[in-house]
Amino acid sequence: MSKKQWTKLNEVIQGKKNDKNVKIRGWIYRTRSSGNIVFMIIRDSSGILQATIIKGEIDDDKFNDAKKALIESSIELEGVVKEDKRAPGGYELKVSDLKVIDFAETFPIVKDQSPEFLLDQRHLWIRSQRISSILKIRSTVVGAIHEFFRNHGFYEFDAPVLQPNQCEGGSTLFEVKYYENKTYLSQTWQLYAEAAIFSLEKIYNMGPTFRAEKSKTSRHLSEFWMAEMEAAWMDLHDVTEIAKEEIKFILEEVLKNNKRELEILKRDITTLEKIIESEIPTITYTEALDILKQKEGMNVEWGKDLRTVEEDRLMKHFSTPVVVTNYPLEIMAFYKPKDPNDPKTALCFDMIAPDGYGEIVGGSQRSLDIEDMTNRLKEMGEKIKNYEWYFDLRRYGSVPHAGYGVGVERVVAWICNLDNIKDAIPFPRTLLRFRP
Ligand code: 4AD
Ligand code: MG
Repeated sequence: MSKKQWTKLNEVIQGKKNDKNVKIRGWIYRTRSSGNIVFMIIRDSSGILQATIIKGEIDDDKFNDAKKALIESSIELEGVVKEDKRAPGGYELKVSDLKVIDFAETFPIVKDQSPEFLLDQRHLWIRSQRISSILKIRSTVVGAIHEFFRNHGFYEFDAPVLQPNQCEGGSTLFEVKYYENKTYLSQTWQLYAEAAIFSLEKIYNMGPTFRAEKSKTSRHLSEFWMAEMEAAWMDLHDVTEIAKEEIKFILEEVLKNNKRELEILKRDITTLEKIIESEIPTITYTEALDILKQKEGMNVEWGKDLRTVEEDRLMKHFSTPVVVTNYPLEIMAFYKPKDPNDPKTALCFDMIAPDGYGEIVGGSQRSLDIEDMTNRLKEMGEKIKNYEWYFDLRRYGSVPHAGYGVGVERVVAWICNLDNIKDAIPFPRTLLRFRP
C-alpha cells in the first residue's frame, strides 16, 4: 500500500473526504458477503464506516482475505469515499486495496447476551459502541473536573492510598497486610486534604477510592473514583455553591463534546440542557421529609437516613439535582460539625441526582472541636491515638474549612442514563466481581 496519512473515520462521516482517495485502519465491526461482493463495516476509535469490496476491482487473494476475515479482525483499507444515503453515516468506501493485519478467531460476543456474560468478557466488550461511548463521556467528565478546579485556582494534591485510619465508617474498610502491620485502602482523600489546606488553601484530587460495600445495588462499586475538594476559610454554603457550579460545568462539557455518544446511548439531552439553565435548589433534610410526607404520603421517622426508595420518591418532584443539607447529627461521620442554629443536625450536604441516580455528591463543613470528635470516635470503638495527627490540625492555627466528594461513576451513570453503575467504569469491582 502506498505511504500516505491515515484518515480517521469521523473525518469521512463528517463529509470531509467525499470523492477522495483515503487510507483507513481499524477493526471489522460487521461483515457480510454475497458472491462477488463483501460489505464490511469498519470501526475505529472515532466512528464507523461501510466499505464495499468487489471481486475483480481488487487482487483475487485480497478479495478472498476480505471474504474470510471475521468480525474484530484488524485491517487496513484504501479506496475512494462516495456519498451513499443507505450506508450508516451516509458515506461508503469503494475499496481498491486492503491488508488484513490479524485474522480474528470467532468472536465470543454475539447479540443479546446476558449482563454477567458481558462482564466476564469485559476485556472484549469495551470495544462495543456502547461501552466506547460511555468511556468517551467518562473521559470528558474527568477532564472537566480537572479544568474546573484549575480554572478556579485549586491545586491538585495527592494523598496516600494506604491509610491507617477510617474516615467514613469502619465497616466498609478494605484491609491490607502491610509488612508486619495492617493498613487500609483509601475510603477518602479527605483527612490528608485537611492537613494540606494549611499549605495550599484550595485543593482538589481525583483518584481511586475503596469501599467494601456488603450489598449488591445498582449504585455501589467496591472501587470507584472520587473527585474531592477541600478549602480553607470556606463554609457549608460556599462549598454547596461550588458543587452546583461544578456539576453544571461537567454537563456543559459533555453536551459540547459528546453529542454523538449521547445519541448512540439514546440519551434524551433536553433534560440535561435544562439543568444548565436552571437553579439547583437547596433544601434541608427536614424539608425533604416534609415533601415525602405531603406529596408522597411517606412517613420517614426524623433521624433516619434517606434510603434509596426515599431519595427516588423525593426526586420525582425535581427535574434538576437537589442539594439536601442538615442531616441528623447522630447518623453522620465523626468530622461533620453540629449546626449551631439547629444543633440536632450537622453542617453537611448531599447532592441527589434526578431520575433515580441517587447521591452524586457528599460533603460538609469540618468539625473543629477535638473533644466532640473524640467522643464520637470512641462511640465507634476507634483508637483515639490514631487520630492525634488529625487533631493536631485543630491545634496549630485551625481555620474554618469545608469540602466534598463527587462520585465520578454516579455522575457518568446519570449523564449516560445507565441501568447500572458497573457500566460507568471500565473494569468494575463489586461484592461478587473482581475479574477480569
Ligand atoms: O458521601 P461520601 O461517603 O463522602 C466522603 O467520602 C467524604 N469524605 C467526601 C468529602 O467530603 N471529601 O462519598 C462521596 C461520594 C458520594 O456522594 C457518592 O457519589 C460516591 O462518593 N460514592 C460511591 N460511588 C460508587 N460506589 C460507592 N460504593 C460509593 N460510595 C460513595
Ligand atoms: Mg455520603
